[in-house]
Amino acid sequence: MTRKKITVVGAGNVGATTAHIAAGRDLGDVVLVDIIEGFAAGKALDISESAGVYPFSCGVSGAVDWQAAAGSDVVIITSGLARKPGMSRDDLVAKNTKIVQSVCRHVAEQCPEAFVIVVCNPLDAMVYTAARTTGFPANRIMGMAGALDSARFAYFISEALGVSCGDIAGVLMGGHGDDMVPLPRYTAVAGIPLTELMDADRIAALIDRTRNGGIEIVNLLGYSAYYAPAAGAVKMAEAILKDKKSVMSCCAWCDKEYGVGGAFVGVPVVLGSKGVEKVIELDLNNDEKTAFAESVQHVKRLTAKIDELL
Ligand code: 2OP
Repeated sequence: MTRKKITVVGAGNVGATTAHIAAGRDLGDVVLVDIIEGFAAGKALDISESAGVYPFSCGVSGAVDWQAAAGSDVVIITSGLARKPGMSRDDLVAKNTKIVQSVCRHVAEQCPEAFVIVVCNPLDAMVYTAARTTGFPANRIMGMAGALDSARFAYFISEALGVSCGDIAGVLMGGHGDDMVPLPRYTAVAGIPLTELMDADRIAALIDRTRNGGIEIVNLLGYSAYYAPAAGAVKMAEAILKDKKSVMSCCAWCDKEYGVGGAFVGVPVVLGSKGVEKVIELDLNNDEKTAFAESVQHVKRLTAKIDELL
């Protein structure tokens, strides 16, 4: 059986960490692509050497030339500028649109059958850019945000309750911005509804911290997060490559779903060998509907800017 092939675009913090986690889980041969000569090759060599300590079988290589990515099953796009203190994700839109457009031209040429997972910001708008540039069907284009944001929510809950993070499952919808919509009604600790374990004020405080989870790290580090974002991207790739039919939140195309009317936005989905196999429609209450609709409007305003830039 031939191994699967995963290309990670951008060998910076998110890209290199994604490659390291994917290799450690033996998901397939990993190719790191970066425009800086020697950068991807150096990171790939370092990751490969780590197999002498914690063994894995797949190969890890680095390249400047896109031919190295040819025929990839999954492409994870991490390239682009990251936030610095004082910046919002939306501040990155002009520069990252051009970067993602350029990357996606190569993806369309070298990896025409690939599933594309976008990680760069502003996330939902960059997924739209990838879809427009590649022309790939919507089930093969998606963004990593829900996996990260729900992981943050789960971690904050686990810390507050003193329980295992692995026991917490939640749903988070909307764009990957300050108006994202964590859904406590659909969040449970080993099946016990969160709303039975915490009062509304405590839940509201954790939602607020989740919404600001990205900037909390930017303010501590001076640059943006990468361990949890990389883990989220690998989780999505694994669901696709192993046909796991995993249910998780991710940025996916919605038209009739939730009455979105055509936008890439965070929703719960089933991820398997066909990519986004299904958008799961929840019976949202009025407050949840309003919050989601506001977040969708934000994403649409940003997407309209992309139409001017492309
Ligand atoms: C974050 O939320 C980088 O957007 C990413 O940390």
